[in-house]
Amino acid sequence: MKIVIAENYTQMSEIAAGIIAKVVLEKPDAVLGLATGTTPIGAYKRLIEYYRSGLVSFSKINTVNLDEYVGLDFENDQSYHYFMNENLFKFIDIPKENVHIPNGLGKDLKANCDNYDVLLKTYPRDLQLLGLGGNGHIGFNEPGTPFKSYTHIVDLTERTIKDNSRLFSDPKDVPKQAITMGIMEICRAKKVLLLASGANKADAVFDMVQGDVSENCPASVLQLHSDAILVLDKDAASKLDKGVLDQAV
Ligand code: GLP
Repeated sequence: MKIVIAENYTQMSEIAAGIIAKVVLEKPDAVLGLATGTTPIGAYKRLIEYYRSGLVSFSKINTVNLDEYVGLDFENDQSYHYFMNENLFKFIDIPKENVHIPNGLGKDLKANCDNYDVLLKTYPRDLQLLGLGGNGHIGFNEPGTPFKSYTHIVDLTERTIKDNSRLFSDPKDVPKQAITMGIMEICRAKKVLLLASGANKADAVFDMVQGDVSENCPASVLQLHSDAILVLDKDAASKLDKGVLDQAV
């Protein structure tokens, strides 16, 4: 794992956007695995700026997103479809048909999962962007998810429901289930870029970097990935040992 420590959220976002833009500049038809949550919003803002200033075009990329809530219409402002559109897609030149997000709607969610796995095989990712759940989840792969998991339906933990309730006007509206790309597919990306910001992520960061590689901390699987970059702000990195911080960039 390569660890980069940023001064703050702004710098973390700039570094992340730089890494993503570099992938697209080197390979204009790259496949990007994208993430939601508040953490990547700053990086998406930067990418929009790069696009507006003519530095990079997204007209040939394809994107595959990590996850989506079960039961939220795509127009619902809490759905991840809506989030991606409002925070990135509507501001850049990516063709609509190049955007792929799991479908948490319909009667046969298992079929939706299987279809997404087929799609993921067609779009091997050059880079997978990740945030980090306060309990170490990646995508919506909660602690205890087998590392050998494919796209599946998840019962969200109480902690995740509570963490994510801050984004809903009524906490009771937070869906109890989600559909998520599995850990196996996340790890198949050539490069994995995980972002974490804030002291509320410090314990999960510690477990991810210095804990055992264990399904109890899904993000710890990144210790096994050959090209995983963690960009952490100082608060998120605050519980790492000095020896680890000394080796960080
Ligand atoms: C959700 C998403 C994750 C995200 C996590 C952290 O659970 N499914 O992909 O990493 O939230 O969110 P935030 O970045 O808002 O802390």
